[in-house]
Amino acid sequence: MNHTDVRGLALTSTSAKAVDAFNLSIAANAEYRVSAADHMERAVAEDPNFCMAHCVLGYYMMSAEALAPEGMARTHLENAEACDLSRVTERERASVAALRAWVEGRQDDAILIWEKILDQSPLDLLTMQLLHYRNFWLGKEEGIRDSVARYFSQWDSSIPNYSNVLGMYCFGLNENDSSDRALEYGRKAIDLNKDDLWAVHAVVHVLNDRGEQNAGLSFLEQFDKSWSDRNAIREHLWWHEALFIWELGEYARALQFFDDYVARNITPFYLDVQNSASMLWRLESVGVDVGDRWTTISDAALKRIEYRYLPWTDVHVAMTLARTGQRNDLDGFIRTLEEDRSKARNARMHAVAETNLAVCKAINHYCCGDYSTALEELLAVRSDNFRPLGASNAQRDVIGMMAGTAALKAKEFATARSIFAQRLEAKPSNQMTWLFYAEAAEGCGDHDGAKRARAKAATIVGSLI
Ligand SMILES: [Fe+2]
Repeated sequence: MNHTDVRGLALTSTSAKAVDAFNLSIAANAEYRVSAADHMERAVAEDPNFCMAHCVLGYYMMSAEALAPEGMARTHLENAEACDLSRVTERERASVAALRAWVEGRQDDAILIWEKILDQSPLDLLTMQLLHYRNFWLGKEEGIRDSVARYFSQWDSSIPNYSNVLGMYCFGLNENDSSDRALEYGRKAIDLNKDDLWAVHAVVHVLNDRGEQNAGLSFLEQFDKSWSDRNAIREHLWWHEALFIWELGEYARALQFFDDYVARNITPFYLDVQNSASMLWRLESVGVDVGDRWTTISDAALKRIEYRYLPWTDVHVAMTLARTGQRNDLDGFIRTLEEDRSKARNARMHAVAETNLAVCKAINHYCCGDYSTALEELLAVRSDNFRPLGASNAQRDVIGMMAGTAALKAKEFATARSIFAQRLEAKPSNQMTWLFYAEAAEGCGDHDGAKRARAKAATIVGSLI
């Protein structure tokens, strides 16, 4: 007997209990709840021939980017394929094919399959999320938005989990410079469901990118930030809070927040490595002594060398190895990135490998004090805002800041001035950036410009001056 999910999509299962567990799992996953996998395990326990439930377990494993997820995901894939695929729906068969493509490292193929699934079934929430997030990590900016835009008109508030779709659309619009519309959808999503952490996260990104740090901190105050039964999105939201504080120039408070929240429990999970390393780098870039905190993420970073999935994680591994002086490991890591470039199968993969290699080499040179070379390497790949590395504008800003501070340290003041001028266009009320700009202007001999920049910085409330 066949059933449907809560959005009316057919599911091939003989068990109503299994389908109930499936629905609970998809809803829990949409809210980043760690219980999502348990619900789905219960679904396959109730109906061992529930093909789509096996497939989703594989999706969950791959999405988690755990250490060596392919082995575990492959088991779920084989369980899904062991079901009689001739009796399942076309959507379910296509989902299994997408999982196989993903497990085999063919992410672009998986994306094409997910797009076809959504063309036929726009209410397939999980597939939309997978498409949205893969585009995000692959640096496909328009894809982050269009994974929702193409199907948005088919959704309305009567459909379960509408808030999740609004939240994703908010995020995608913001990454594509439509922040007013993004904010409208993000706020609407949170009005519908305060537990939708992706929508919360999306609004945080809008406020960050507009340089509205105080608004961001006020916005986060409305939530009980313990966020129990949640996965690492919780730590990432804490990281965003630390980022707001850092942007305000309240460095001691940012460091304390880092210790109390962001770095409370660092694991080899990729987001932990990204959050921690990027915050330490930012703090050091403004002269904060972070003590031996880099060593606390060293083990986690080393594990990510063996199990590499995201270029954006690679960048943070390189930061950690460089800042902890693990020269041999870093040299070996960079050789691996060079091999990646030589093995790139298409133009996109080559651009990813080229950018990843250049940025990691720049990190190495920066930490060795060779700021000129670091700057040269960063400028060679900045034309697309380091987009091939994936992640968000807010995250990649650490690389832009790295280029700016490298330029200052290399006494390439004209370049530094243009880098910080660009940042001020996006965040005109950022005291730290005005001070960097003033230093660059002074180095260029533009004393009046430097004076005006310092005066501007002095008008901005903060603890820097
Ligand atoms: Fe984020």
